[in-house]
Amino acid sequence: MTNVSLPPPSLPEAAGDLDRVGSRELEDRIAIARARGIDVLPLEGSPKLTLPDHIRAAAAAALERPAPQPSEGAADLRAAIAELWLQEVGRPLQAGSLLVTNGAMHALNLVFRAILAPGDNVVIPAPNFFFSGAVALTGAEARYVDASSDGSPGWAPSLVERACDARTRAIVFSNPVNPSGYLPAAETLEEIVAFARGRGLLVLSDESYNRYVYDGSFATLAALPGFGECGIVIRSFSKAYALAPLRVGFVVAPDALTRAMTHILEWEILYVSEVAQRAAAAAITGPQDWLQAIPAEYRSRRDRVHAVVAQHPLLSAGKPAAAPFLFLDVESLQHELGDPVEALLAHGIPTVAGRYFGVDGHVRLPFGGSPETVAALCNRLARVGSRQ
Ligand SMILES: Cc1ncc(COP(=O)(O)O)c(C=O)c1O
Repeated sequence: MTNVSLPPPSLPEAAGDLDRVGSRELEDRIAIARARGIDVLPLEGSPKLTLPDHIRAAAAAALERPAPQPSEGAADLRAAIAELWLQEVGRPLQAGSLLVTNGAMHALNLVFRAILAPGDNVVIPAPNFFFSGAVALTGAEARYVDASSDGSPGWAPSLVERACDARTRAIVFSNPVNPSGYLPAAETLEEIVAFARGRGLLVLSDESYNRYVYDGSFATLAALPGFGECGIVIRSFSKAYALAPLRVGFVVAPDALTRAMTHILEWEILYVSEVAQRAAAAAITGPQDWLQAIPAEYRSRRDRVHAVVAQHPLLSAGKPAAAPFLFLDVESLQHELGDPVEALLAHGIPTVAGRYFGVDGHVRLPFGGSPETVAALCNRLARVGSRQ
């Protein structure tokens, strides 16, 4: 018998052409840089902590007596989220509007798969989080638009509105904005919601970094008039409770949409890991002291790193009001040294290219990490582009 080698099976276009997730692609680059002997700094976009005893005990209890959970999420976690929602948003959470997910990224995918068809689009004020791959999987377009009328990070709602057309299904953004740390004001969000309601569009606010606010105040979409009809809010336990490895988040949306997403979730994963859900419930209901210092620590890291960038001849960045990143303007660096991500990585500084956020000429730099790591970051940044 002769062996005939067949060509590998072809992949459908949406899967075959799918871009990487920016932060995951960076992990590969870091591994290559480390293999070449570069000491890449372990900078973080959220704290990597040893989890406290009450969270570990909750996970261990679930391992002792595992039980299947409802598709929409474990009852005790849902009750804890409802309580938290009442405190943070000031309104009761309707049970039919809540779905527990495998993290915020999963929630984004559920929303897009439930609302988008090939040829549709979502409009995203740029720079903004990498929503593009999750949108592309549905055959729709992630339309990043420059929504700033004066070069500041602030959004002009009229520019967002102008980018919408007959195939637009939703206006989508992160708030606080990852990567720029911009906090849209309640009035800005209200204008966007009023426009969306008038046009029958949805508004999706990914509030993964709602606890990382340093200046000004965070306005949740969920507190605005009209939220119940057209608003979607996503939250992540990865950031708020440093639970990234456990992959838990949730989405709050109009009931019919939540029902549709619950059915999609069932076909994907049946239900979210019970162990992770018990840990997440304990994180909400248990002691909060281990989390309290985090925003102040991130704020002081922001100030230190921003002070270095503000003096830098080749780099610049606005001071972020929130979130754990500087969105560096690297036009001058690129002019002098070529690919900015590689130029910074040569100094062991990991960044994600701006194109993942819908904007060229920029990179996203995280400023989380141990005090030693942040001190090393400041030293290395100061040396980037210097000729000694
Ligand atoms: C704005 C935003 N959305 C979603 C995610 C994904 O969060 P999760 O870890 O909960 O999937 C991130 C993670 O960096 C994020 O910054």
